[in-house]
Amino acid sequence: MTPALFSSLTLRSVTAKNRIMVSPMCQYSAPNGVPGDWHFVHLATRAIGGAGIVMTEATAVRPDGRITPFDLGLWNDEQEQAFARIAQFVSEHGAVPGIQLAHAGRKASHSRPWERRRALGPSEGGWPVVGPSPLAWEEGDLVPKELTHDDIHALFEAFRESAKRALRAGFRILELHAAHGYLLHSFLSPLSNQRHDDYGGSFENRCRFLLECVAATRAVWPEDLPLFVRISASDFVEGGWSIDDSIRLSRWLAKAGVDLVDCSAGGASPAQKVVAVPHYQVAFASQMRRAAGMLTAAVGMISEPMAANQIIETGEADLVVLGRILLWHPYWPLHAAKTLGLTPPLPIQYARADGFSGIRG
Ligand SMILES: Cc1cc2nc3c(=O)[nH]c(=O)nc-3n(C[C@H](O)[C@H](O)[C@H](O)COP(=O)(O)O)c2cc1C
Repeated sequence: MTPALFSSLTLRSVTAKNRIMVSPMCQYSAPNGVPGDWHFVHLATRAIGGAGIVMTEATAVRPDGRITPFDLGLWNDEQEQAFARIAQFVSEHGAVPGIQLAHAGRKASHSRPWERRRALGPSEGGWPVVGPSPLAWEEGDLVPKELTHDDIHALFEAFRESAKRALRAGFRILELHAAHGYLLHSFLSPLSNQRHDDYGGSFENRCRFLLECVAATRAVWPEDLPLFVRISASDFVEGGWSIDDSIRLSRWLAKAGVDLVDCSAGGASPAQKVVAVPHYQVAFASQMRRAAGMLTAAVGMISEPMAANQIIETGEADLVVLGRILLWHPYWPLHAAKTLGLTPPLPIQYARADGFSGIRG
């Protein structure tokens, strides 16, 4: 019997060969938003490494939606062409190419993490940031301009245009980044959204921005291709967004044509209290899967093949999403296959490596 982790998953017309997805991970290495050799090698290696779905890092729909001046973007032809080369290679090597579209909102215009996180002013290449309400993420951060209705509609248009470019570039899964305190999440959370119009106040109003953004992108993303949304299932702050809110939201997301919710957490506030231990977010994925009947992905400190297999086998989630472990071990899926008793599906060029099994999965 095929271990659950290596069973295929079909969503609309797309089949992933296994349940392992590369988690979106910013590389902060793209001048002008254009993916370069680093991104090609980074994503191509993870496809060769055997992941079923290779998801790009957060890719901004507009220049002001980048976390740093070095984030990927998808608003022009040069970026589209560079992405096409990556999507083609990933597809040719048996993985499904996915792209995470994002706008960083009030967390935009920052230095790279390895340059000490701080807001960048105009003299350092920074730009004005936007958000639901004029509230900085933390003291010393930029205060966002409160978005008007016209601004909001222009943003939906930007998501729509990037989605069209993603399709032309050859991506087969689109993920909207509505987690980690960035723009879409900042409308959901009462910690960052203190508006008094249709986009703030009640739960329904706070969900409106994301649901309209989903509708805008779903309208141009073909019917036969899957749409994912990554959310923060909890803000880990009293009075913030909660798992119950996530369950309610995901029922609406399903109706809006979202195929799977990628269940991350946190990022809305520096006051969050989180104990990060192995599998600490898996319960969110399983609660949402059970309560909302939604397909889910589990992410966060999943690194053991047996345990990852169990998440799928016991129905806690439909996908496991791996981040940092795949930075250390891009061939983790091949090792996991071996650990779980399969002949690892090595690329033909690497087939002779199978006679030497010095590494345990
Ligand atoms: C270097 C790095 C960059 C990240 N960039 C993104 C990103 O672009 N989009 C996103 O949704 N999450 C991002 N994350 C979060 C990861 O996708 C993942 O959810 C998190 O690292 C937990 O999974 P892990 O324990 O397997 O690493 C990033 C994490 C790391 C370590």
